[in-house]
Amino acid sequence: ESGVELPNTKFSFDGPFGTFDRGELQRGFQVYKEVCSACHSMRLVSYRNLRDIGFSEPEVTAVAAGYQIQDGPNDDGEMFERPGRPSDRFRKPFANDSAARAANNGALPPDLSVIVKARGGGADYLHALLVGYEDPPAGVTLMEGMHYNKYFAGHQIAMAPPLTSDGQVQYADGTTATVDQMARDVTAFLAWASEPESETRRAMGVRIILFLLVLGGLTYTVKRRVWARIG
Ligand code: HEM
Repeated sequence: ESGVELPNTKFSFDGPFGTFDRGELQRGFQVYKEVCSACHSMRLVSYRNLRDIGFSEPEVTAVAAGYQIQDGPNDDGEMFERPGRPSDRFRKPFANDSAARAANNGALPPDLSVIVKARGGGADYLHALLVGYEDPPAGVTLMEGMHYNKYFAGHQIAMAPPLTSDGQVQYADGTTATVDQMARDVTAFLAWASEPESETRRAMGVRIILFLLVLGGLTYTVKRRVWARIG
């Protein structure tokens, strides 16, 4: 975090009753797939996890099969590539960290699996970072290959603005892909990935509270009955 106050962005998943919207999660995956995955891995997520955000079994299979995954060694001790399967983890864009740094001016694009938990400010920070690129203020000189971002710690970030123009992604559901919309959607997707069980947990919380209310009411009624003649 940069010390600059983060705007508080309203998300569908804010608060104890917040929920993810399947549409936003699927659009967010599309942004990750078409933009971020060129540089960022998500090594904790498998293609089959996409079922949880509403993709059908054939869709998941098709997404996975669209990637060539490193496998092996085979019987001859060789590594080989094969089409992805739903059980594979998301394919990494680079073979290793040094290859990733070499392609990114020395900087390492972090894995995005739990990024929303890993950075202070969470979803608000991520969204702000994605829309927070600006011209450097007068008097600030950027280092070679760096970009000015209002919300990045130190303001000089090696990641070029990833979301730059409206319509950069053609959303499958027809939603207009403004920069802000893409930033929100990919933030929702990455928030889900960071904590995929949060929805179930919240739903359980609500059921527990309802159960306790009903139990409390029953206990009260029973108490009144049992003590009716004495009270
Ligand atoms: C850093 C997200 C696309 C290269 C980061 C960080 C996040 C992020 C959250 C960490 C910021 C921090 O440390 O606080 C995203 C998202 C993308 C995207 C959501 C898609 C919308 C890309 C692309 C590239 C890239 C396409 C490469 C062309 C990098 C690099 C860093 C970085 C090199 C390290 C920056 C530094 O430490 O100075 N990104 N990114 N990112 N990203 Fe991305």
